[in-house]
Amino acid sequence: MFNSKIIGVGKYLPKNVVSNADLEKTMDTSNEWIVERTGIQERRHIKKGDNDGVATMGVKASKIALERANINAQDIDLILLATLSPDYYFPGSGVLVQDALEIPDCPAMDIRMQCSGFVYALATADQFIKTGMYKNVLVIGSEYHSGGLDMTSRGRNVSVIFGDGAGAVVMTRTENNKEGILSSHLHSEGKHAKELSLIGPNTGRWVPEIITENDPEDISYYPYMNGQFVFKNAIVRFTEVINEGLKKTGWSANEIGMLIPHQANLRIAQFVQKKFGLSDDQVYNNIQRYGNTTAASIPIALTEAWEEGKIVPGTKVVLAAFGSGFTWGSVMIQW
Ligand SMILES: CC(C)(COP(=O)(O)OP(=O)(O)OC[C@H]1O[C@@H](n2cnc3c(N)ncnc32)[C@H](O)[C@@H]1OP(=O)(O)O)[C@@H](O)C(=O)NCCC(=O)NCCS
Repeated sequence: MFNSKIIGVGKYLPKNVVSNADLEKTMDTSNEWIVERTGIQERRHIKKGDNDGVATMGVKASKIALERANINAQDIDLILLATLSPDYYFPGSGVLVQDALEIPDCPAMDIRMQCSGFVYALATADQFIKTGMYKNVLVIGSEYHSGGLDMTSRGRNVSVIFGDGAGAVVMTRTENNKEGILSSHLHSEGKHAKELSLIGPNTGRWVPEIITENDPEDISYYPYMNGQFVFKNAIVRFTEVINEGLKKTGWSANEIGMLIPHQANLRIAQFVQKKFGLSDDQVYNNIQRYGNTTAASIPIALTEAWEEGKIVPGTKVVLAAFGSGFTWGSVMIQW
């Protein structure tokens, strides 16, 4: 058995910055409310006409990760792309990335696990590498939320939270089983599927019905979130799944070099930090600048932490996520 390790990280954020004051112009909200409840000060939205999307942002992040990994795109054996906002209903965006990177015929798979998508994708890549089936895997998280949000007061509890962006990592095989991904832990609980969901475009309502309905009051095309219920479940599951990883690796909380929680809400991250008695230096947060970019949030934060020199060889890194499904998971990495 091999281990897998990350050898290159990259990120891409659209240039268009949307502040809380900008949101105040289209909905009944305030900078004060958003900062107090979520920690978010600004986020990025793709500007209409910028010709950007999930695949193009994923490609830009991937090119940086590939360069840092010092390998050619053509040496990638598998692409895993995590997103809840694919460019098309089908096919997935992974194949669009493959085409843009000019990789002839490697498998390209989309992972539809929402905020936990990147953790699921990393765990999946790890398994393919561990068994020896693939050597180099490109793992991407990319989201284009802004085009599908209700930017009126009706959608304010959801729309102020989400932002656009992408992150990517290149993983490869290592024969040193003391480095790289040491363990991963995945869970889901489908009974809460609708508590954080977008059910509008679905196979129960095929196209003719959707077109003829054309009902401006139909909010099923916008994301729905039962905010407080999600919050309560998130803090429990984050805690459980980090503990699961600590138990498996035998690490104590104070040995964690960097915890990168999915950037759902700064209050959730602060709760988790306190629960494990971690210092500010042990937790990375950038939700203040980017909002919640779902599957992209962990690879973007991982890239920034690495760029800032906070993750170096030897650092014990913990990634943890919770989101729609409900789904949750953690990955323990000896960098
Ligand atoms: C969404 C969230 C920030 C809302 O915070 P909250 O403290 O739970 O707020 P509530 O939903 O109870 O709403 C409180 C009030 O603020 C109002 N409100 C909601 N969104 C608002 C906004 N953007 N601006 C101003 N007021 C808003 C509500 O209408 C409500 O008003 P009321 O008391 O008059 O009815 C919080 O529930 C949360 O972060 N949940 C988890 C979200 C998450 O992590 N999602 C991704 C999962 S990966």
